[in-house]
Amino acid sequence: MVEYDEELAAETERTYLMPEIVRQRAQTIAALNLRAGERVLDMGCGMGLLTRELALAVGPTGYVLGIDNSRPMLALAQRRCGDLGQIELKEGSVTAIPEPDNGLDAIACTQLLLYLPDVAQTIQEMHRVLKPGGRVAIVETDWRNVLLECDDQPFMRQLFAEWESSIPSPHLPGQLEALLVAAKFSAIQVEAIPLINTSYLLDSYSGQMVEYSLRVGQTAGKITAEQAERFKTELKQRSADHRYFFCVNRFLFTAVKI
Ligand SMILES: C[S@@+](CC[C@H](N)C(=O)[O-])C[C@H]1O[C@@H](n2cnc3c(N)ncnc32)[C@H](O)[C@@H]1O
Repeated sequence: MVEYDEELAAETERTYLMPEIVRQRAQTIAALNLRAGERVLDMGCGMGLLTRELALAVGPTGYVLGIDNSRPMLALAQRRCGDLGQIELKEGSVTAIPEPDNGLDAIACTQLLLYLPDVAQTIQEMHRVLKPGGRVAIVETDWRNVLLECDDQPFMRQLFAEWESSIPSPHLPGQLEALLVAAKFSAIQVEAIPLINTSYLLDSYSGQMVEYSLRVGQTAGKITAEQAERFKTELKQRSADHRYFFCVNRFLFTAVKI
């Protein structure tokens, strides 16, 4: 199970400041089509990057609630969002949203559902707290669609399979439409958000994912330290030779409460 301690929170913050994730946030905000004064929930708000942008979109007459169950993540969010009075941050699990029925205009839920064993239950919670006509934007990734140029493709597949084995719901994009329909959402749309890196940098999205997945594989005893070093050396060389190419698609789902 992934635990967002101080080290992982700081690593994730660095990665989420990279242009590929900045673009993802812009697409998420655009999809929600927010208006001044609206009430919004940011589920699993993490370090508050999206929370802050949601708050700027609804303005000082709006309200944004960020919920997260990691204290180190919330400490980063507090530092980032503390100057905006329309933001409230709460520690807790999104499996029980501390909001009454039918009260929110919009929900953002980015890279969160993969950590939950019962995604159907949480999507029903989202439906419960939204007003009729309320909008939801969900972003998820499926690591089976990763493209990473390297000599040993089976090793690379194994690497990302190790990462996926550490989370309860790794293959959500193909299941989300059915889950949203079952919870009585309508007007479901989906678009891909490709994350592309052509250099192997530690703070890039792929750099962090390779590093993290190698750690997961090593902790599980499935990858040796030697294999990890050899793989990173090859990626560095590829990057220097302009032969590094990484792409994975994230998927942005939008839906409306009937
Ligand atoms: C990959 S981060 C994404 C952060 C943020 N949504 C973003 O896209 O910038 C995942 C976040 O979900 C939080 N999280 C995981 N399970 C949770 C749960 N059951 N309830 C609340 N937060 C949770 C983690 O603590 C972490 O901050």
